[in-house]
Amino acid sequence: MTVPGPGAHLLVTGGAGFIGSCFVRDLLARRDGTRITVLDKLTYAGNRANLAAAEGDPEAAARLTFVRGDIADPGVVDPLVVAADAVVNFAAESHVDRSILDPAAFLRTGVDGVYVLLEAVRRETERAAGGERDRAPRMVQVSTDEVYGSVAEGWSVETDAVAPRSPYAAAKAAGELLASAYHVTYGLDVVITRGSNTYGPFHHPEKLIPLFVTNALDDLPLPLYGDGGQRRDWLHVSDHAAAIAHVLFHGSAGETYNIPGSAERENRDVVARILALLDKPWSLVRSVADRPGHDRRYAMDGTRLTALGWTNRVEFDEGLAATVAWYREHEEWWRAARGGDWDAYYARQYAVRLATSATADGPTEGG
Ligand code: NAD
Ligand code: DAU
Repeated sequence: MTVPGPGAHLLVTGGAGFIGSCFVRDLLARRDGTRITVLDKLTYAGNRANLAAAEGDPEAAARLTFVRGDIADPGVVDPLVVAADAVVNFAAESHVDRSILDPAAFLRTGVDGVYVLLEAVRRETERAAGGERDRAPRMVQVSTDEVYGSVAEGWSVETDAVAPRSPYAAAKAAGELLASAYHVTYGLDVVITRGSNTYGPFHHPEKLIPLFVTNALDDLPLPLYGDGGQRRDWLHVSDHAAAIAHVLFHGSAGETYNIPGSAERENRDVVARILALLDKPWSLVRSVADRPGHDRRYAMDGTRLTALGWTNRVEFDEGLAATVAWYREHEEWWRAARGGDWDAYYARQYAVRLATSATADGPTEGG
């Protein structure tokens, strides 16, 4: 199987979301002839404005096509896969808290949608075997460290068993298990990435870092779940997107690659850092009822990805400072992202929690 290279035609599903749009912007900015078709349903989390930098650059725009549609719809997916050298699947419902409130959409996109993509890739793989196209399309299934479940100590390696604990994580595990089964059973050229907690510009304000930055800018309470001692390993979005591109171009068929971050931190330490950068007081932080089934810690080993030749570039303190500055400078973007069902979602997720909240213990380090 030949791996697609620069200049290929990529189908990027979910390319108007946080990480997918960074992947699209950064790959087009390499100016290596790569063509990209973005297929995105534009859910509340998808935002065409995330692609404005590419769409406003004539050279990049000429290599970018946008299609609004659902990855679970074969009528939309099939012809796009026929024309693609590779499929990079970012499309998913991505917020754990929403998966706890309403799991259905997570299964439709994360399981049915992945199945529709795999079936389309399978048909093209058969056509390649029959000499009807030069080469079978590669598919990158973008997955997450959450499939390992909570990791009390040590670091997850790719051969560890998956043990997802939220509907979101279970849907992601199902999607990647299907993808790897299609590699084994039908010989599809599939590679899987498991990225860690990602942060940076264009991150929807429902997630911890952008929620706390934007609430703090408005002097609103910051709802910290439980004791705030949960640990996440933070990965800058540009590193996550570039690592996925590296795996697309260099990864081995059938392989899974962890993409760890560069900074394992307790949530309350991240929050303290945000407040320091904004010069806002810790008194904004409220300890609220915990997320059900809250995973205490994620941590992955990155040896396999390092051996493939990838190393992260963005250091967390610098990346976080730049991210906070970006939100300060892009108020219009994040206020618009708080459109749609935001008020209803926010009330459902936080109203009771905030009404019954308590003073939060301070950070473990100076922050
Ligand atoms: P996001 O929610 O910002 O973006 C998801 C995008 O997918 C949106 O543009 C949305 O409109 C689109 N989409 C949703 N359902 C669709 C459907 N049925 N058909 C077509 N498009 C659809 O998510 P993100 O944070 O950018 O995450 C992208 C991928 O990376 C997801 O698969 C997620 O599971 C994975 N991931 C995210 C993180 C993280 O920290 N954000 C970490 C590891 C892995
Ligand atoms: O680890 C990778 C995953 O990271 C991705 O697969 C998910 O798509 C992505 O959303 C993210 O999941 P998390 O649940 O870790 O991210 P979130 O930003 O929702 O929460 C980060 C931590 O902060 C987590 O321990 C929960 C906590 N938290 C979150 C919110 C939204 C709070 O304390 N309060 C909050 O209001």
